[in-house]
Amino acid sequence: MNLKNYIAEIQDFPIEGVLFRDITPLMNDGEAFFEATRRIQEFAETCGAEIIVGPESRGFIFGCPVAVNMKIGFVPVRKPGKLPRKTISYKYDLEYGSNELHMHADSIKKGQKVLIVDDLLATGGTVEATIKLVEEMGGEVVGCAFLIELLGLEGRKALGNYNVFTVMSYE
Ligand code: PRP
Ligand code: ADE
Repeated sequence: MNLKNYIAEIQDFPIEGVLFRDITPLMNDGEAFFEATRRIQEFAETCGAEIIVGPESRGFIFGCPVAVNMKIGFVPVRKPGKLPRKTISYKYDLEYGSNELHMHADSIKKGQKVLIVDDLLATGGTVEATIKLVEEMGGEVVGCAFLIELLGLEGRKALGNYNVFTVMSYE
C-alpha cells in the first residue's frame, strides 16, 4: 500500500512559501490509517518501547493507537496552560518566534524506555524539546518515529545518534 497516495499537499498553508503535508486523508481511510499505525508499532516493538510520548496535537493521532495496541502507556506533551498538575517545560526557538512544551513532572519513570511518536519531522525542534524533557525525568529515549520526514529541513541533524524511523519522506 503506497501511503503517499493519502497525503494531500497544500501550497502556501498556513503561510506563504510552506508546502503543507496534510495527513487527514490518511486518517479518513481505515486501511491506510491502520497500515501507518502498524508500521510505527513494528518499529516500537523492535525498540522495546515501554511507554509512548507524543507532542500535541498530531503526535496524539499516531502515538495513542500504537500505545493502546501494545498495551503500554501514552504521555502527552502539551503547549503551555493545558496540563493541570506540576510540569517541567522547555522553550525553543522557531523560525519566527518561540514555542514552549510541557510534560507532567511525574509522567516518566527513571530508566523507562521511551518512544517518541509524531506525525512529521520538519526542523526537529519539537522532537528535540521532547527528548530534553524525557531525559530530564531520567527516561531513556529508545527511538523517535514519524509518519513523514521533510528531508530538506534536516531535522535528523538535531537527532544525532538517536534511533529514528520514518514511514515516508519527501525531498
Ligand atoms: C507540527 C507537527 C510536528 C512539528 C514538526 O506540529 O505535527 O509536531 O510541527 O515541526 P518541527 O520538526 O519543525 O518541530 P504543530 O506545532 O504545527 O502543531 P499541531 O500538531 O498541533 O498542528
Ligand atoms: N509541520 C511543520 N512543517 C509542516 C509541513 N510542511 N506540513 C505539515 N505539517 C508541518
